Amino acid sequence: MSAQDKHGAFRIEGGRRLAGAVDIGGSKNATLGAMAAALLVPDESILENVPDIGDVEHMARVLRSLGAAVEWAAPHTLRISAADLRGSSPPSDLVGNLRGSFLVMGALLTRLGEAACAPPGGDVIGQRPIDVHLAGFAALGARVQREEDKFVASAERLTGAAIFADYPSVLGTQNLMMAAVKARGRTTIVNAAAEPEVQSLAAMLQAMGARITGAGTHTLEIDGVDELHGTRYAIIPDRLEAGTYAIAGAITRGEVEVRGACVEHLPSLIAKLREAGVSVDTGGDCIRVRGTDELRAVTIQALPYPGLATDLQALMAVLLTQARGVSYVHERVFDNRLLYVGELRKMGAEVVTTGTTTAIISGPTPLLGARVRALDVRAGAALILAALVARGRTEITDIYHVDRGYEGIDQKLRSLGASIERV
Ligand code: EPU
Repeated sequence: MSAQDKHGAFRIEGGRRLAGAVDIGGSKNATLGAMAAALLVPDESILENVPDIGDVEHMARVLRSLGAAVEWAAPHTLRISAADLRGSSPPSDLVGNLRGSFLVMGALLTRLGEAACAPPGGDVIGQRPIDVHLAGFAALGARVQREEDKFVASAERLTGAAIFADYPSVLGTQNLMMAAVKARGRTTIVNAAAEPEVQSLAAMLQAMGARITGAGTHTLEIDGVDELHGTRYAIIPDRLEAGTYAIAGAITRGEVEVRGACVEHLPSLIAKLREAGVSVDTGGDCIRVRGTDELRAVTIQALPYPGLATDLQALMAVLLTQARGVSYVHERVFDNRLLYVGELRKMGAEVVTTGTTTAIISGPTPLLGARVRALDVRAGAALILAALVARGRTEITDIYHVDRGYEGIDQKLRSLGASIERV
């Protein structure tokens, strides 16, 4: 697996139009759910189309800490065997560094009848409560309590229940699906998340023998089954990686073909790029983007799916620094996901924030190379896009954040003609 160098930086010479085709890998966030699901059964599970990224490496460490065997069977193919689980409680320092690791709670509760996990860490993008997860476990009949630094949930057998989720949380919905798959009777989750990564987990669980309907809507019905089995499952394409390269093509006024994407997962991005004047053609699993010298300002809102993904909000904001007029960016999923604006301003962007969830961008502004810091995986990717269009050299530090979520982003961008080096 790729090493993550905490001291690495990207050095980018801006001003080149990107051209060519780029292949999209498997979804980071769908992979994390699939890895947790492999804990549900003692059989082997084979996951295909798995990205070789830092977060997958980290999740593998979490699974191994519980006694699972996790290894690459081939490039992008992960073999997981959870035959001999020796624990129901991953070390808190591991959980503290990866929010997705909290997904082991639902899987372990089903498999072992108990699970204990510290509050999960993750990117600094706002308050990230886990009440949806915990209230759902309790509704299914688990005893849920706090013991020292961990949440502990236990139940001999869970019982299906009607659950109303206060918020359509992605990880919360995934955790509750894994808790409900073997519960006695029917579970209904109202206000469930509809994100493609939730749909992907539902598809994998169905392949393992689970009975789930409604994936992709806000109401899920899960009929508990007595047995599940291992499976072979191919991870869906990463819509956020696809979106990143589509915006990279647009911002450099280039022509980029994004291959191997799932076009249906990106309706809001495609609509907003077109509204801003970017030419977007789709066909099969390809998205072809042609940039324009006449980008127009637009208003964007990051929302639960199928709204524009919060994970693409910062990248779109960078694009809008090049658009004529005043653009409004509203972040409506997380309460503090505009921290990258400070870094963008160092590059000359005219962006002001009102509160922590709205940014107002005046453009077009020429961006200038600077030394900036990747604050999280998507903020880091957004700065790369800014650097691609900036005059002169940009150095982006803390790029281990970017490596957590993007496989070979420097190689892929170089293949499109960018000047980007890892230093
Ligand atoms: N929320 C609650 N209660 C909860 C859980 C969440 O109120 O119990 C609120 C949060 O405060 C937040 C909103 O719900 O305002 C969204 O949080 P959600 O739980 O949906 O996010 P998540 O499941 O923790 C996943 C992705 C994120 C992505 C979000 C939103 C994984 C591992 N992470 O996080 O991805 O931004 O959904 O789509 O799947 C990334 O890949 O860079 C990333 C941060």
